[in-house]
Order: sequence, then C-alpha cells, then structure tokens
Amino acid sequence: MRHFLTLKDFTKEEILEIINIGLEIKNDLKAGVYKEPLKKQTLAMIFEKSSTRTRVSFETGIYQLGGHALFLSSRDIHLGRGEPVKDTARVISSMCDMVMIRTFAHSMIEEFASYSKVPVINGLTDSYHPVQLLADYMTMTEYGINENAVVAYIGDGNNMTHSWLMLAAKIGFELRIATPKGYEVDRDVLDDAVHLAKESGAVISVSNDPMEALRDATIVTTDTWASMGQEDEKAQRVKAFDGYMVDGLKMCLAKKDAKFLHCLPAYRGQEVSEEIMDAHADIIFDEAENRLHAQKGLMVWLDRQR
Ligand code: CP
Ligand code: NVA
Repeated sequence: MRHFLTLKDFTKEEILEIINIGLEIKNDLKAGVYKEPLKKQTLAMIFEKSSTRTRVSFETGIYQLGGHALFLSSRDIHLGRGEPVKDTARVISSMCDMVMIRTFAHSMIEEFASYSKVPVINGLTDSYHPVQLLADYMTMTEYGINENAVVAYIGDGNNMTHSWLMLAAKIGFELRIATPKGYEVDRDVLDDAVHLAKESGAVISVSNDPMEALRDATIVTTDTWASMGQEDEKAQRVKAFDGYMVDGLKMCLAKKDAKFLHCLPAYRGQEVSEEIMDAHADIIFDEAENRLHAQKGLMVWLDRQR
C-alpha cells in the first residue's frame, strides 16, 4: 500500500503513470464513459483549512469512479476537539477505503498515514501541495510543454514552491525560483531537490531577482503571497513582495509564447495582474479542471497498489 504525501516518494515513471491514468479517464469522461473502478469505495476528506477546488474535485472524482465522499470538517469531528490523530486515523481507516487530508503541519499527515490502514492523500499542508502539481504537469503535457520546460516561479517560498521543486527534481526540467529576501524556500527541501536533480538532470536555481528568473522562461507561475494560516501577516507581506507581481511587463521577459499557470485562488493586483489572468484564462482554468482528472488517476493508481 502507498500513501501520496509528497512527490519526493515517487519516481518519475510513477508520476507519469498516474497522470496517464488520469488522462485516459479524462478521455472516457469526455466520451461519456464511466468505468467505476472504485465502486462502493468511500473517500474520507478531512479539511482543517478552506477549499474550493480540492473539495469539489475529490468529491466529484470519487463519485465518478463509482465511490462516495465524506466531507469531514475538523470543526465537526472530534479531531478538532482534541481526539488524537492516531485514534482518528485508526477509526476512519477501519471504515473508509482512502483518506484525503488538508491540514497545517506536514507532520500531522505523516502521523495519520503511519496509523492508517488505507492510502492517505495530501490535499495540502503548510509544506507541500502535491496533488496540485499532478494537475499542473498534466496541463503542461496537454499544452506540449514537458521535460524541456523552463519554469519561473515568482513569489513566496511556500507549499506550492516546495512541490514545484519536487516535480522539477523528479521530471528533470529547469526551475528558477525568485522570492523576496526572508521568504525563501525551506533549506532542507531545496537541498533534497538539488540532490534528486543530479539524477534527473533538472536545473534548479533560487534567487531574489524575478527579472533574471523570467528571462526566456516557457512557463511562469506564482501563488498567493499569504497562504492559509498567514492571514495576520498579509499587510506586511504585501509590502515585502513589492515588485513581485507577474504583470505584462514581466511576462515580456519570458519567451514570446510562454504560458502562465496559477493554482488558484488568485489575488489580482497582488501576485498577478488582472491582464495576465485574462490573457491566460484558458490554460489557468484547464489547470483547475485537471485537478479532477489527475486526482482520479491518483486514486485509481493508489487502489491498484494494495
Ligand atoms: N488550488 C487549490 O488547492 O484550491 P483550493 O484551495 O480551492 O482547494
Ligand atoms: N499556498 C496556498 C495554496 C492554496 C491552494 C495556501 O497554502 O494557502
């Protein structure tokens, strides 16, 4: 049995296999074919933070695969009142077939997984957001951009950046990260990625210079400057990130036909301008839709590993 906690635990071949299963199921869905490989299975979804895409895509996805989702807000279950993670894990995994968790500390999901009898999927922690990167790479593939990509990430060194690092390190493309001083990626995650990159041939660089990162990039991406749990730092972050908005002028430094990705939700006028959101709406909302397809691929793949 396998869990899906970070891309670090997956080989390039496994990541591509998950995405390919997702693409096959996507084709089936577009042709009106429902094969229901997870018939009668239940997916428990524990949310300690808000969500639009993750909730809708997992709930819809498991239903289309023949199963059923349980939405468990930590406000409503005993986990939020102090029932230990290990007890919650043993109980839920004795009744459900798979568990998806969105939480704060990555250690919580690791502890849950260590007591779970069924696969656990990371639906975002403070450290990583790997299901988003499955959808992002599926989207890149569909738009014909893959191993040769030059990705520029402009913004906060957060859970999305860490997952981009893992994806680049595994797949083997170039990733340039530009963050303001004091908002860099975690040193250990960077070291892990640089180490893995030696095998895949990925080229990874970090700086405090967005212009340099953007030069001739084929993909430009960013994320909110204040992640969930950092609401109190918002005003301070808006000041610190001055000059980091991805706008028309910055996009001009990238390749002429460069694409822009955003995991959403997007804060227009902060990390990205309205103009860039409008110009790249097609790919951004394909990326959002691919959460559904990529995660269906993931759930089917995890089911096949037991
Ligand atoms: N991108 C993403 O995970 O969106 P939600 O927070 O809406 O789930
Ligand atoms: N970095 C953001 C991603 C939201 C999908 C957050 O953690 O809030």
